[in-house]
Amino acid sequence: MKILAISGSLRSGSYNTAALRVAADVAPDGTTVTIHPLNDIPLYDFDLEEEVGFPEPVAALRQAVTDADAVLIASPEYNYSVTGVLKNALDWLSRGGADAPINDKPVAMLGVGGRFGALRSQLHLRDILLHTKAPVVDDIQVYIARSDAEFDDDHKVISERYVNQIERLVRSLVETATQS
Ligand SMILES: Cc1cc2nc3c(=O)[nH]c(=O)nc-3n(C[C@H](O)[C@H](O)[C@H](O)COP(=O)(O)O)c2cc1C
Repeated sequence: MKILAISGSLRSGSYNTAALRVAADVAPDGTTVTIHPLNDIPLYDFDLEEEVGFPEPVAALRQAVTDADAVLIASPEYNYSVTGVLKNALDWLSRGGADAPINDKPVAMLGVGGRFGALRSQLHLRDILLHTKAPVVDDIQVYIARSDAEFDDDHKVISERYVNQIERLVRSLVETATQS
């Protein structure tokens, strides 16, 4: 089982990317979680797509999603929504009509930040994913309110409560992908 993980934050010290590293650590045997950085993804531009197709970093992301059995997304909340970085990547992944890589791909999400653990951004993300017809894991919801008690100085998730939630989320994603 191959899970492709995407962080909506480009920051090297991102708490959301750190949570994805936890997901990789706690994934069940036989499951790999690979984080695919979005730093090189250009802004979506229809003209660019018409002229060159998918630029190399976009093609690599699209191929990685195609090759994966499921996608795990962690995003901060920016102004009550997902980050532009994440939305931009999803826009590229939605191109290609019925063959769009994100179509029908099982997705699970989590978020770190603010007082409510990116609650509103995750609600928006669920709306965005409606368009892709992706089965979205909803039995486990992970909202990690950022606080020093949850992370160590290296931004590693240390709260056992959240590590357990992330583990259950990954297991649920694996089950969803197995059934679809
Ligand atoms: C432009 C911007 C907008 C933000 N808006 C919100 C917001 O609406 N709600 C919230 O809880 N946090 C908001 N934050 C705080 C981030 O969610 C928080 O810093 C988060 O930890 C960043 O995630 P990262 O550590 O993965 O980069 C905002 C931060 C930035 C830079």
